[in-house]
Amino acid sequence: MNLKEIQPDVYYCGVNDRVSTLFEGLWPLPNGVSYNSYIVRGPEKTALIDTVHEANTPEFFHALGVSGNASEERVKIDYLIVNHMEPDHSGAIPLLLRAYPDLKIVANRVAIGMIKSFYGISQPEVFLEIKDGDTLSLGEGMELKFLLTPMVHWPETMMTWLEARKTLFTGDAFGTFGALDGGIVDDELDTELYRSEMYRYYSNIVGKYGVPVQRAMAKALPLGAEWVCPTHGPVWHTHLQEAVSLYDRLSRQEWEDGVTIIYGTMYGNTGEAADAIARRLKERGVKTVKVHNASHSTLSEMISDAFRYKGLIVGSPTYNGNLFPPVEALMKSMEVREVKGKIFACFGNYAWAPAATKILNDKGTALGWDNMGSFTVKMAMDSSAYDSAAGVADSVAEALLS
Ligand SMILES: [Fe+2]
Ligand SMILES: [Fe+2]
Repeated sequence: MNLKEIQPDVYYCGVNDRVSTLFEGLWPLPNGVSYNSYIVRGPEKTALIDTVHEANTPEFFHALGVSGNASEERVKIDYLIVNHMEPDHSGAIPLLLRAYPDLKIVANRVAIGMIKSFYGISQPEVFLEIKDGDTLSLGEGMELKFLLTPMVHWPETMMTWLEARKTLFTGDAFGTFGALDGGIVDDELDTELYRSEMYRYYSNIVGKYGVPVQRAMAKALPLGAEWVCPTHGPVWHTHLQEAVSLYDRLSRQEWEDGVTIIYGTMYGNTGEAADAIARRLKERGVKTVKVHNASHSTLSEMISDAFRYKGLIVGSPTYNGNLFPPVEALMKSMEVREVKGKIFACFGNYAWAPAATKILNDKGTALGWDNMGSFTVKMAMDSSAYDSAAGVADSVAEALLS
């Protein structure tokens, strides 16, 4: 048994993943990730809230004392509460049921359907189906309440509220990349790392679901949680307001002052235009300027900064009569996430048939962004291209700082 007490009767039994290189097979994990699972002990019953990725079942089972080592003290569990069915949290369910054959799975109707589809578990006696607002008593004074919060980040997602400890178990909401280096609760950790990873996690994973996140926050936050236990990253307590405010701003698409410049380049010419814009922005007083070469930065990092800052300037060579593929992927990511309200400008490059600037302009217009202008470079930068770069930077800086 390797449980970490967070509060009286509330324990952490999650795991760190510093092995996987990509989350969802897509998003890099340079700092790892944690799959958080929690135990709530009542006077009569004990509930486990969410499980872990299937690959991490061994250490999860060590935490629960069911690894097969006879010297371990086994944690008694009566209920498994399923807040979220994505396999990074549900993967251990089949083995958990083998270890605890009498376990009751407490889940909503949509989650129960998913448990059947993912794992073939369908015996009705296993399930205790709950609806929005239902409660489950773990004995006197320890009651769990379930809040359905669909699309944060799947349709079955819900949160679990433990009034007795002012603790909210939120699933992926308020989650972040980054394994938990020793501590579990925010004040035991260097929260700076998790804050920057939260931008990346939110924009990459949850970014499309801003409206459901707002709805969920409006439903859950009036409960007055003092402890927020997400399925990834630290438990928020001392820094709870910062985490809530960051999620609130991002889900309302309220962007920070600053400009992200993302460019593709084959031979450096479009990159030269990007640097000219970046320097001019600084000269014009823009404090935060982030520049990404789309062939070098990951899509994950680019989405994160493109999401975070209000200004977005995108440049691309014309490639096969289209955008340079990594730039196209970035623009597609913005479209899929329905990113609104950017101060936008763009620039393109071509050798014989110009296309990139027009495509970028069209995409910015389709997204409803404030278009501050564009320019096109023919192969290499010249004095007129430098003037155009300065002009675009001036317009963006003015719009941002006004
Ligand atoms: Fe998820
Ligand atoms: Fe997750």
